[in-house]
Amino acid sequence: MRWRVIVAATALAGVAFGSVVAADGTHDSRIALMKKIGAAAGALGAIAKGDKPYDAEVVKASLTTIAETAKAFPNQFNADSDKTDPEVNPKVWDNLDDFKAKAAKLSTDAETALAQLPADQAGVGATLKTLGGNCGACHQAYRIKKD
Ligand code: HEC
Repeated sequence: MRWRVIVAATALAGVAFGSVVAADGTHDSRIALMKKIGAAAGALGAIAKGDKPYDAEVVKASLTTIAETAKAFPNQFNADSDKTDPEVNPKVWDNLDDFKAKAAKLSTDAETALAQLPADQAGVGATLKTLGGNCGACHQAYRIKKD
């Protein structure tokens, strides 16, 4: 009989895990993703500024992180999301399609850059300028500064 208990417990754990995922969309879960994007953009920035030598692996990893994280980010804005987040403009909820489109554009731009990997410091700088436009456009429209 013991295996039944284990199976039941596992099934329960699965339900619990599922609800944790569904309850995503908190300020912290969004910030964690944005921090990942920010760190990746920072790594590219260090190369663009010449603080770090050009490294194709770092460029590839950073662009991959941005492309993938930008895809996951809009999922943080769902029916169960925390809509009282003081850093998120209530406009997001009325313009969810536009918001998602802005995230998708960042992801697509990062993927385009991945396909033609910037080959030197200047290339990384140009890529960062393109990506940065996406960050700015969305932050300006949908992020509320705390201070
Ligand atoms: C689709 C919209 C969108 C795009 C594109 C976007 N951001 Fe954000 N970003 C947000 C929102 C919304 C917040 C606030 C999240 C919250 O408070 O829940 C945020 C917050 C942040 C934060 C704050 C994290 C913290 O610790 O408080 C950083 C850093 C950040 N973004 C970096 C970037 C960078 C770098 C890019 C571009 C490579 C970018 N973001 C692109 C919407 C976006």
